[in-house]
Amino acid sequence: MKKLFWYLLLIFVVLVMLTLILVVDKKLDNKKEVPQDQTKEKLSLLNNIDKKIDYFHYNYLDRYLDYQKKYPNLSDIDIVTRVNLGLDQPFYQNTKPSNELNKITILVNKYTYLPEDYVPNNLTKVSNLFSTSTRELVYEAKEAFEKMAAQAQEDGYTIRVISAYRSYHYQKGLYDNYVSRDGIDIADTYSARPGYSEHQTGLVVDIDNGKLDFNHFEETEEFHWMENNAYLYGFILRYPKGKEDITGYDYEAWHYRYVGKEIASFIQQNNLTFDEYYVRYIEK
Ligand code: DAL
Ligand code: ZN
Repeated sequence: MKKLFWYLLLIFVVLVMLTLILVVDKKLDNKKEVPQDQTKEKLSLLNNIDKKIDYFHYNYLDRYLDYQKKYPNLSDIDIVTRVNLGLDQPFYQNTKPSNELNKITILVNKYTYLPEDYVPNNLTKVSNLFSTSTRELVYEAKEAFEKMAAQAQEDGYTIRVISAYRSYHYQKGLYDNYVSRDGIDIADTYSARPGYSEHQTGLVVDIDNGKLDFNHFEETEEFHWMENNAYLYGFILRYPKGKEDITGYDYEAWHYRYVGKEIASFIQQNNLTFDEYYVRYIEK
């Protein structure tokens, strides 16, 4: 009887291992499968790119080529990064649900959305020392934010949260108002559609300095303090100037995303957006 149990267990373990091997193999196959109809152009792109870019996907080859034709001055790395992000398609097309729920590496952008009922775990109130009213963040982000704001205060600066976690329905109210005020095209340049706002992750703060309107945050000393210090606490400027074509949003000097110290430092040093970082180092 005992022996039978051990035999059955052994068979079960072998079956589980075989399934795992098949799944991993299939994943690798998807990346490695080289299409048969290789033209000269394709071969040259393959030779240049696939050896040095490990987030290159053979099944996107035609899309890379089309994008390269459209933007011949972009580097191979930028072409692959942008196509992997979906930027060769219009914003809000070919969207997919985020698969990093409740992780600090979650990507939310105009191609990756959150479920309507998604509320992050561990939402916690930000101390009213650093907030204009009740605002919530995921615990880890809240702790980091309070440390950052306390240090800023010690250095003689004021950093206050004016917006943090926003539910799907709150974002819908905001977006709908903006659309009726400015029309959809303009609203889309500065507001996320419901389900597509990073604020729904609970990892984001909009800040001001308590004196100037948040729209003028770039002109404040606090902004310069944030430029030099935010990454030390794990925050990044999420929608930088000059990267609007990648993020899909106008520059926002007041919107900071918590990604943890290590990723924030890397992004700061390499002048990347989180979208680019995600494709190159997380999604691959
Ligand atoms: N303003 C940012 C893009 C948002 O609406 O989430
Ligand atoms: Zn914001």
